[in-house]
Amino acid sequence: MTEAVTAPLPVVILISGRGSNMQAIIEAVRRGELPLDIRAVISNRPQAAGLLRAKQAGIATVSIDHTLFKDRHAFDQALQTTIDRYQPGLVILAGFMRILSADFVAHYRGRMLNVHPSLLPDFPGLNTHQRALDAGCKVHGASVHFVTADMDGGPVVLQVRVPVYPQDTAASLAARVLTQEHRLYPLAIRWFAEGRLTVNDHGQALLDGAILKEPRQLPANTGEPAW
Ligand code: GAR
Repeated sequence: MTEAVTAPLPVVILISGRGSNMQAIIEAVRRGELPLDIRAVISNRPQAAGLLRAKQAGIATVSIDHTLFKDRHAFDQALQTTIDRYQPGLVILAGFMRILSADFVAHYRGRMLNVHPSLLPDFPGLNTHQRALDAGCKVHGASVHFVTADMDGGPVVLQVRVPVYPQDTAASLAARVLTQEHRLYPLAIRWFAEGRLTVNDHGQALLDGAILKEPRQLPANTGEPAW
């Protein structure tokens, strides 16, 4: 008997910067752990280092410089037109640092994921690591969520926790979290690609057909700090 072969899921990845999460996804695909057809990597910043990394991996790249558009709506329209040319089943935000308009988000309802460097709903927005330190958090982490019109507010599907040490700076904490993001995001994307992760008509995330009342937690393997 032959095993059913599932076609890889077509995806587009959006980035704004160095693209280390994108790279982790590319590598997981290469290792055969993630059934994706990465059709394009799109950046709103032409100088994003991640564009070069994507090119080196043989992936089509597009830059759409948001500063050249008269307003958010015009940029989002151009972005949507470009994305749709690749007919993705999933849009992956990987360090894409733009607020997206409600129309844009609605167009990709249930098929757009984001990784965010905090344990949502704590610390949506920017400077999450410094804010976690300032708040005296002993535990910090990262979340993968479906994107809705509420910034960093869509249903969270998977999280990873990391310890915060007394000597931590925002940079050391960011580095510890980022290492875990690289394990976290490919796993959530894999659930989606396998058809296990969906959103229902009420905007709730489902894993294997059951509503995710709480996000799943990925066991951390952080080890001891280097100092
Ligand atoms: C990551 O830490 C990601 O969680 C964060 O930007 C960084 C991108 O790094 N995203 C957000 O803050 C989105 N709100 P990368 O370009 O190396 O993947």
